[in-house]
Amino acid sequence: MVTEQVFSLNPLTGEKHAIPTNLDHSKAIDDFVLKNKDKPIIVVQGLGFVGTAMSLVCANAINGDYAVIGIDLPRPNTYWKIKSINDGHCPIVASDKKIELFFNQAKEKGNFLATYDPYAYSKADTIIVDINLDVQKQSNFEKDLEGFDVDLGPFKKAMSTIGENCKEDVLIIVETTVPPGTCQKVVQPIITEALEKRNLKSDAFKLGHSYERVMPGPNYIDSIQNFYRVFSGIDPKSEVATETFLRTVISTKEYPLTKLSNTNSTEIAKVLENSYRAMNIAFITEWSRFAEEAGADIFEVVHAIRMRPTHKNIMLPGIGVGGYCLPKDPLLASWARQNLFAGAPLGMSEEAVKTNDKLPLYAFEFFAKKFGGKLAGKKVLILGVAYAPDVFDTRYTPVEPFYNYLNKEGCEIILHDPLVSYWEEKRLEIETSFDKILDKEDIDFIVIGTGHKIYRNSSALVNKVATQENIFLFDPIGVFSDENIQKMKNGLGTIKVLGRGNI
Ligand SMILES: NC(=O)c1ccc[n+]([C@@H]2O[C@H](COP(=O)([O-])OP(=O)(O)OC[C@H]3O[C@@H](n4cnc5c(N)ncnc54)[C@H](O)[C@@H]3O)[C@@H](O)[C@H]2O)c1
Repeated sequence: MVTEQVFSLNPLTGEKHAIPTNLDHSKAIDDFVLKNKDKPIIVVQGLGFVGTAMSLVCANAINGDYAVIGIDLPRPNTYWKIKSINDGHCPIVASDKKIELFFNQAKEKGNFLATYDPYAYSKADTIIVDINLDVQKQSNFEKDLEGFDVDLGPFKKAMSTIGENCKEDVLIIVETTVPPGTCQKVVQPIITEALEKRNLKSDAFKLGHSYERVMPGPNYIDSIQNFYRVFSGIDPKSEVATETFLRTVISTKEYPLTKLSNTNSTEIAKVLENSYRAMNIAFITEWSRFAEEAGADIFEVVHAIRMRPTHKNIMLPGIGVGGYCLPKDPLLASWARQNLFAGAPLGMSEEAVKTNDKLPLYAFEFFAKKFGGKLAGKKVLILGVAYAPDVFDTRYTPVEPFYNYLNKEGCEIILHDPLVSYWEEKRLEIETSFDKILDKEDIDFIVIGTGHKIYRNSSALVNKVATQENIFLFDPIGVFSDENIQKMKNGLGTIKVLGRGNI
């Protein structure tokens, strides 16, 4: 039987690569290990936003000399990264110069290989788990969250693959955001059973959990290497091994590690941190709407409150909550409480997700009402598609539902983002030159989608709105100073900032 060739598209270059049909990559792995024979081997499972950067940090460890093998699945959306790394091309385009630098240093040293072959796990002294663990929401942005589920299946399979291949005394560090309870109730039993099946010692492996807040923006590498870390181990030997390892890759002198007493605690810490943030955003949304109705300026109000040291982290409203973590982590926690500990749902945290998921709809309805009438045929320029300022990550970006609503109304949409040239989820090419996009003359509406630095108080943008008749600027994020808002208001165009009452 002839199997059909499957391809993987590199979104950075537009090249299509055939996924190898023979997935035996053992020779390349053996050669790599031989070439790096004096170095401990780290295998990073998952070459996504976190795993690729973590691989680079390990390959450029501050207190160690490691050889790193990054492993991902040979799928159309991932294979290109493996190919790109092994061809010597960095698979990440980031505003952080350290990404390219670390990649080039690893290339020079020859201590970074990428693969799809689980044989790599057999060579590992340390395995770092950076794969995704998704929540399946039964909702869309227009409807309330009606239910959700967590399918642990793919994660369990990934753990089994490790157990079927790893050394008996390997150190496994789980960095994936997991439902609290997972290391104790899922990972440990899977690895133990798999080692027993292979007639290996099942009490020699070490299992740690550690999390970070990776920000794929200008401080991408530093968000891993130069930042605080929380960790724990499944038992005392795992705790020591995890700590010893982390000290070799993180600047722990400047950013001391925080040890928690067990893996349930660190797993809770991770999702609580994100749930707190999600809740904070949902909370201010309610008040932002009230302020809007009352003709009050929520920005002015929040800045006044932030003067008090006790209230420094009160949030500002926005177009919505995106990224991989905030829209799902409160749900992971609630799922864990119900399914791994037979407890009640985390109602407030679920409610926060529900509220946040509907923010883009609210922003759109507000926009449609304010500038209203018929949107069909109007030319709308959206500035920014990434989910957060100065990052290139578009996963679950709130701009996507906003874009969809405009599309449904029959608008002609033009997209700009300085950091995203291809919007993977929408399969759309994006203009990255700000000058080029601002030169366009026949735009009816401009919407700030992301608070990128380039848009913040941009004089070119202010001038465009101030000097062009019949142009409407909608800012659901708040990227302009009072002075610039005034300049636009005094000019020919119109500006409306969500949450700023009469402005
Ligand atoms: N800023 C962040 O995105 C951030 C920060 C901290 C922690 N985390 C957590 O880290 C984890 C990874 O996040 P991400 O943003 O890198 O996700 P991602 O989706 O970008 O990357 C995950 C990668 O793992 C791969 N993968 C899945 N199953 C695999 C398997 N069995 N073997 C090998 N590879 C496999 C996927 O193909 C994908 O490339 C998530 O749990 C996330 O919550 C993310």
